[in-house]
Amino acid sequence: MKLKNIIPYQLRLFRIRIIWFFKNYKSIYFESGIYTNELHGPATYKTDGLITSNNCDFINDELFKKAYEKAAATKPWNGFTLQWRTYIVCWFADYVKHFEGDFIECGVNTGAYSRAVIEYIDFPKTNKKFYLFDTFSGLDESLVTELEKNAGINNYFGVYKDVYQQVIETFSTYNVQIIKGSVPSTLSLCNAEKICYLSIDMNCVEPEIAAINYFWDKIVIGGVILLDDYGFPMHIHQKNAFDSFAIQKGIKILSLPTGQGIIIKK
Ligand SMILES: C[S@@+](CC[C@H](N)C(=O)[O-])C[C@H]1O[C@@H](n2cnc3c(N)ncnc32)[C@H](O)[C@@H]1O
Repeated sequence: MKLKNIIPYQLRLFRIRIIWFFKNYKSIYFESGIYTNELHGPATYKTDGLITSNNCDFINDELFKKAYEKAAATKPWNGFTLQWRTYIVCWFADYVKHFEGDFIECGVNTGAYSRAVIEYIDFPKTNKKFYLFDTFSGLDESLVTELEKNAGINNYFGVYKDVYQQVIETFSTYNVQIIKGSVPSTLSLCNAEKICYLSIDMNCVEPEIAAINYFWDKIVIGGVILLDDYGFPMHIHQKNAFDSFAIQKGIKILSLPTGQGIIIKK
């Protein structure tokens, strides 16, 4: 680009920013990053490790709001503010719902994501089955390595409550199979022959890598795998393990600012 073209553009941009600033300065907080150009306006989303000034109108979409309310009603923990992650989960569930195959989640806790998905895509109309794997009482500590404990995964020990009965009630009216016990030993209890949606969220490497390896050949082309912990600093060993898996399979993991990793089977 020539210099004479750049300057007018920069001047125009400067003018737009000045006008915008005088219209909006009352709503801007000093710590928002706007003064140092980190954000492009007042923060629109500021939770769960993510701060942005970008549009997040999806939060007010009626269908999403209803789905998120169902997720929050399972009461995963106090102050559950995972709107953007839940939106990504719902969006991909909607994207794959016309593909062949069933839905699986490994790492369910109270079922927040799965319950949101059921609402968002009107799951009963898909004629699919949803398989939910969890101990329903927290991590299997015997599967967590010393390296992972040192990275902070031991902070999860003793945190998860026994939610088995609650989950049975939450999903009692849907075509859902609840598979209780420690992954990987429970994986063979799933009879799904084709899978279009696999959500992996067990906070540690061994069961997660076992799950993706076990189900990989059953994932249909275009099917999605959501890695919930992929980008979170404490979960670096999961990221490393999935990055090695991706190299082995010749695929690329899409890293999202929400911390999630996305794989689309090609
Ligand atoms: C972050 S929570 C899952 C949250 C869930 N995806 C949601 O929608 O709210 C992690 C879950 O993984 C489960 N988990 C961890 N290790 C497991 C294992 N080896 N086998 C089965 N479940 C496991 C825990 O019991 C816990 O409920």
